[in-house]
Order: sequence, then C-alpha cells, then structure tokens
Amino acid sequence: MENKKFYITTPIYYPSDKLHIGHSYTTVACDALARYHRAKGEDVLFLTGTDEHGQKIQDKAAAKGVTPKQYVDEIVATVKDLWQTMDVSYDRFIRTTDDYHVQSVQKIFTALHDKGDIYKSTYKGMYCKPCESFWTEAQLKDGCCPDCGGPVYEAEEEAYFFKTSKYADRLLQWYEDHPDFIQPASRKNEMIAFIKQGLQDTCVSRTSVSWGIPVPFDPKHTIYVWIDALSNYITALGYGNDAYHDYDKYWPADVHMVGKEILRFHTIIWPAMLMALDLPLPKKVFGHGWLLLGGGKMSKSKGNVVDPVQLCDRYGVDAVRYFLLREVPFGNDGSFTNEALINRINTDLANDLGNLLSRTVAMCEKYFGGTVAKAPIDEALAPMMDALPGKVDAAMEALDVPTALIHIFELVQRANKYIDETAPWVLAKNEADKPRLNAVLYNLCSALELIAALLQPYLPNTAPKMAEQLGVEAGELSALLRADTLGQLRAGYTVHKGEALFPRIDVKAEIAYLEAEDAKRKAAAETAAAQAAPAEKAEAPAAGAELIGEHEAEISFDDFCKVELRVAEIRACERMKESKKLLHLTVFDGERERCILSGIAKWFAPEDLIGKKVGIVANLAPRPMMKGKYVSEGMIVAADTDTQGGCAVAFYPDNVPAGARIH
Ligand code: MSP
Repeated sequence: MENKKFYITTPIYYPSDKLHIGHSYTTVACDALARYHRAKGEDVLFLTGTDEHGQKIQDKAAAKGVTPKQYVDEIVATVKDLWQTMDVSYDRFIRTTDDYHVQSVQKIFTALHDKGDIYKSTYKGMYCKPCESFWTEAQLKDGCCPDCGGPVYEAEEEAYFFKTSKYADRLLQWYEDHPDFIQPASRKNEMIAFIKQGLQDTCVSRTSVSWGIPVPFDPKHTIYVWIDALSNYITALGYGNDAYHDYDKYWPADVHMVGKEILRFHTIIWPAMLMALDLPLPKKVFGHGWLLLGGGKMSKSKGNVVDPVQLCDRYGVDAVRYFLLREVPFGNDGSFTNEALINRINTDLANDLGNLLSRTVAMCEKYFGGTVAKAPIDEALAPMMDALPGKVDAAMEALDVPTALIHIFELVQRANKYIDETAPWVLAKNEADKPRLNAVLYNLCSALELIAALLQPYLPNTAPKMAEQLGVEAGELSALLRADTLGQLRAGYTVHKGEALFPRIDVKAEIAYLEAEDAKRKAAAETAAAQAAPAEKAEAPAAGAELIGEHEAEISFDDFCKVELRVAEIRACERMKESKKLLHLTVFDGERERCILSGIAKWFAPEDLIGKKVGIVANLAPRPMMKGKYVSEGMIVAADTDTQGGCAVAFYPDNVPAGARIH
C-alpha cells in the first residue's frame, strides 16, 4: 500500500531584505510538522521559497545599483543559509523567478482570462508604495496604510481584474461543507464576515511595475502579486510545466501555513482561483499569530527585527527552535524578548530536560557502572508514557505544535518528580534495594528514550544527543515514533555520560551582556558619524560671506534641545506630478514611516536617495501641502551649496540606525 502523503507549505517570503525571526517562526513550525509526519512514515513534501517580484524589490535593487535579479539572488542565498542554520528540512524551494514558475503562471493567467474570469478595467485607489498595496478609503487607518502606518497616495491605472466576487457564494458554501478548512476556527468568522460585506474583484496586473511576469497577451502589464505568488503551491509540483511531475501525487495540499495577515488571500483569492481553474482546494489553511517585538509586529519595513542567525549562534539552534515552537499558543500573537527566551532555555531545557538526563545517566553510572536491566514500568509513569504518543499525535494533527511540546514536557516534569519520590540515593544505601534501584533507573531511561524519540521533530540536534547518552542508536529512536513499535521495551540500557544538553544561562549576566552589546553598537555608530563629519568639513571649500548671510539670535541649550533631530532611512522617493521642485519621500524614523515633501528635486534623482540615511527635523508640526492633498511631516536636513538654493545632504553610514538622535 502506498504511504499516506503530507504536503505542507510556508508562505513564499519576499527577499526584499534578510529574513527575521518572524519568518523563522512560520518555517520552523512547518518543519516540525513535516518532520513529525515523516517520522510517522508518511510521504512528505515540504515546500518553501521566495516571492521575488514587485516594486519594492525593484526599488531596493536600483538603490543598490544592481539588477533586481542580482539583488534577489544575493538575498535568496542568505534565506537558504538561514534554513540550513535552523535545520529546516524543506524538500523543495521555489523561486518565483524560476523559469518553470513563470511559464506556469502565464498559462494560469491566460486560462483565467480565456474563461472570462480575468477582465481589463481601471484601478483607482489609495496606494501604499512600501507595502505595494492599494487600499479603499474604508480600509485606511487614520488616513494611512493599515499595514505599515505610512502615507498613501491616490492612484489610478489600467489593470486586469480577477472576478473574486463571482465566487463569494461558493466560498461560503465551501467553508460550511469543510469546517476544518480555515484554522484556527476563530478566524473563520472573520473570513465569512469579510465575504458577506461584499467581495471586490482582485486587481491582478500592473502597468507601473516592470519587475514582474509579463501578461503574455498584453506585455505592458505585469502580473501583480497574488496570482504570481499563490500559484507557487501548484507550479512547484509541475502544474503547467515539466520541471516536476508530482502534482497528482501531492495536490491538494494538506496544510498551507501562513501568518494571519495573509490568511484572507489564502482562504478567499486562492480558493476562488482554484475554483475558476476547476482544481481541488487545499485541505487546511492555518493563519498563525504574530511574533511581536516591543508590542508591534516585527517587520522589515518597520525595521524592528531580531536576527535569528545571531540567536542561533549564541544560544544554539534547538534552543531557538524550542522557544519559537513552545512560547506562543499557536494561532495567538506573542512577544519575543531576550528575557523570555533565556527563561525558556533555563527552565524547560536546562533545568527540566537537561537535568533529568544528566541525573539519570550519572546515577546509572554511579550505581551500576552504566548498565541497567529491563524492568517493568511503574504505575507512576506507565499510564502517562502509554498515553503520550497519542496525545502528541492529536496535537500535531490539530496543528497545535506548542501543545505537543507541553505534553512531552509533562512527562519530563513527571519523571523529575519520580526521582524525588523514589529517592534512588536512599535505595543505593541498602544492598537489598538494588533490584528496585535498577527498576527505577530503567524506568527513567525508558521515559527519557520516549521523550527523545518524541522530541525529534522539534529538537533535531538534541534528540540524537540524548539517544547517544542513553546508548540508543538514533535510527532506533525514529522507529519508536511509529505506532507499530510503540510500547516495546528495550532489554536494557548502557548509558554514556555526555555534555550538558543546555548549559544554564546566568540571566543577570546575560541581560547585562546583551545591553552592553547594544550600547557598543550605538557607540560605534556615533563614532562613525562623528568621524565622517570632520573629513567632509576638511575637504569642503569655505562658504563665502554671501552664503553665510545673516546669523540667528543666540538661543539657549534648552532651546536647541527642543529641535528633535533624528536619522531617518529613505524608503521610497518619487518625483511629483504636481511640482517640479519637490520630491515625495517616504522615510522611516525608527518607529514609523512618514511622508516628507522636500524641495530638492533639482539636485537629487529619487534613485540617489532611496536606501540612504539622512538627518530630519522630526518634531516639526505636520504641514498640509498641495491644497491639503499631502501632509509633510518633517524636514530633511540639508546644507546650502550656493545662494541659488543648491544643496547637499549628509548621508549616515549603515551602522547608524534609523531613529538615532542627532545632537
Ligand atoms: N510574499 C508574501 C506571501 C506570499 S504566499 C503565497 C509575504 N511575504 S513576507 O515575506 O512578508 O512573509 C510573510 C510571512 O512571514 C507571514 O505570513 C508570516 O508567516 C511570516 N512572518 C513575518 N513576520 C512575522 C512575525 N513578526 N511574526 C510571525 N510571522 C511572521 O507576505
């Protein structure tokens, strides 16, 4: 009989920047699920990849002076390195720039057009450039982009539309007939409400973005985001191409795992596309919550990100994986803090798991030279051990990874308590208690073996280390996960003491270290900025009297302090159709994006500025401009180069973070 198949996917990530711990959160959860299903003997396909087209990437590449493909190639290499570092066992990696994908997407687009489900019209809306999203007035938050909080502009262009609205009733029916389709169930009502308020058709092409897949029958249009991105789940199986041939085997997907902000695209647009193509729908779409930092969603455009590679280097991959998989109830939002990470490592991994193993192995060596013989499993542990694989399985089938870990660690805690209850050191004092002592240690080794076997999908490095100390072949551990070999007892254990699994971290010292590192980074940034300034001065010609002009009246230091000068990163910059003098800048001030209109268009092309860090006056009262169409929220600090308004802008080096105060 053929093995059951299990096809699981992550979102394909934008390679506009290096990925952060939030992306690792989704990917590691999928990895644990993929590993779990492999251990059950299923035929697993675990797909991940990158979503490489769009304006943002085009802009970033231009700012760096490279082609978009060169830009994404570099980032994709870091994405693959990251997944290797984090032991992510993906089977296939799709890039939307891969030829086979491009070819399939063009076929899909044409098929939908031929069917009458894609039509040409005009798109009008409020557009957020960094997010590459059009919004309706109703969706805006305080007049700004609901995703990044940045400014939006009125925009209009000819575009193709997909008839999402046509599928509203069929979608609602599908949800009703397939109650497991949207997970967690709590999010299902949100999607139903969204459809019931009236579905808009989806804009699926752009004429203003060149970095995208051309519409085959109208090449001035490029295919916009969702048709390109969502199709990856089938093109990666060979749908519409010859690169792979396992569409029939793996489709429909068992699980699409996505963050909650893109659940809507996966439970409305994607199924509608599949209905239009007469293809089966995925079995489940799970929208997980966000990992927050300082109360906000970690995001590349906000710049508040945690680097997973640094965390893995310092604490070890399994510790970081454990934190990601265990800390936040799956589906909910949760916070990342250094304290929470260190506490998890110390409490669960070092104290509970690490100590259980080291104490058990040490006692086996001390009292029996390392070898204990088979004995019955005590009532104190047996029911829990028997029930555990089933409980883990139920949690994993419900895509509830943290609960699976909670169950495994209940046995860890129970086994630690069992040591206290049985007090082996007391038994060891009396020769007559030796058989009992052997039984106790055998019980502990058995529990630890089960724990190691069950932990494999989550802690792929730690489980084999545990097996080694227990004298069990790693290959035999995986067999233990299978239903047919569960419950079989080993003839005995010959243990070997090894290194501590997770050395305890001194919380105070570690936090002090992390804070000192942070301060060092800030100091280095200040020094670099200070060093950059005199060099520029030395080379610059002295300003003529005319240029110096009048002096302002003397002010107090307190007056000076009222001017909030900060470093800001220019995220986007455009010429304005309303004014030749002004540039429309979107700058990130360390907390949010803001719009600044600056009269420097004569001296700078947008591509000279995008990606650069400049000084801004951050607390200037917002100023409505162009009859209130725009609100400029600050000023770029610039130096006069002549008396005709010529100007130069100082750029800060990379190590100065956006938001840094300028004194
Ligand atoms: N390219 C689209 C997805 C297309 S899928 C057909 C995209 N890419 S993304 O790079 O922005 O990645 C978004 C996904 O990364 C989220 O849906 C989520 O899975 C993950 N996360 C990014 N930041 C996250 C957090 N701060 N917390 C948790 N997950 C996060 O959207």
